[in-house]
Amino acid sequence: MKKILYSATKPTGDLTIGNYLGAIKNWIKLQDEYDCYFCIANLHAHTVDLSADFVKTKTMKQFAMFLACGLDPEKSIIYVQSQVKEHSELCWLLNCNTMMGEANRMTQYKDHVAKGEKGLTTALFTYPVLMAADILLFNTNIVPVGEDQVQHVELTRDIANRFNNRFGATFVVPKAVVPKVGARIKGLLNPQAKMGKSGDDVNNMILLEDSDEVIVKKVKRAVTDSLNQIKFDEENQPGVSNLLTIISACEGKEIEDVVKELEGLGYGALKNRTAEAIISVLKPIREKYEYYLSHEDELMEIMKKGAKKAEVVAKETLERAKQNMGLL
Ligand code: TYM
Repeated sequence: MKKILYSATKPTGDLTIGNYLGAIKNWIKLQDEYDCYFCIANLHAHTVDLSADFVKTKTMKQFAMFLACGLDPEKSIIYVQSQVKEHSELCWLLNCNTMMGEANRMTQYKDHVAKGEKGLTTALFTYPVLMAADILLFNTNIVPVGEDQVQHVELTRDIANRFNNRFGATFVVPKAVVPKVGARIKGLLNPQAKMGKSGDDVNNMILLEDSDEVIVKKVKRAVTDSLNQIKFDEENQPGVSNLLTIISACEGKEIEDVVKELEGLGYGALKNRTAEAIISVLKPIREKYEYYLSHEDELMEIMKKGAKKAEVVAKETLERAKQNMGLL
């Protein structure tokens, strides 16, 4: 029997090259090897202050982008979180098995607090518990994610182990898997920090739906340095190193080999090569994306079928958890 893979994105913005190189690219390769579940985590999107229309639109767009990238509904279960109500119910059961201290240590939550954001919700605090529910509902073995999500998967493991110890074997304990190159793509304008999809300046990110012209323009504006040497040195040359990482991840080459190929050239050449590498990955995706966006009925049908299939397994796991907890 194949092992089980689970992963998701949250529709708080449009998907970026960071999401693709850190996660989605890996998922596509693993579809034949694993039984896969891919989810648009729209309940997670509402942990921050977004409008109903915004979340709905981004959900549809991300779903279309999943298909355009090559996630295949014939092989994998692709669905939207809010259409499988077991997520919310299991989340409560897991909340009863999560310590305040554990949730308090999550860096994603701490980042929101550190920025002094107003109006933080309790849902933002328990965000990783809902994520644990997503993963544990499907008896997941591996969770391929970018580096920023590893801490959440570690918490999922702790919650699963605690639950299993308290109430008997209920959940499979999952493992995070990160790619060798691309696990943390940085912003183009701020190469010190992760390229995010929510709230940032659009010029800091490459969206998967960006046109060739926009890609070239954004890459041209990317921050480099004044050292004028193409070298992979994340500490002293974060901007240049980020572009080298993007080329390497897009072309499936070792970073050292890309550096050798570009030896002696200037930053203009580095940027041209970066834009070319990105365009060659995104162009075919964009064409399929446009098809799905303009065939909404087909999209909704695939979504509905995915949710139906996911629900079967989710129901079984939730029932087992409730019984083991003595819930009549
Ligand atoms: P999200 O939507 O922020 O990101 C989706 C995936 O993309 C990865 N990623 C990156 N990888 C490399 N470089 C970057 N700059 C970059 N930005 C994002 C993320 O690590 C992630 O793998 N909480 C999750 C969604 C989620 C989930 C789950 C994931 C909900 N339930 C269950 C796995 C399993 C999130 O916000 O991802």
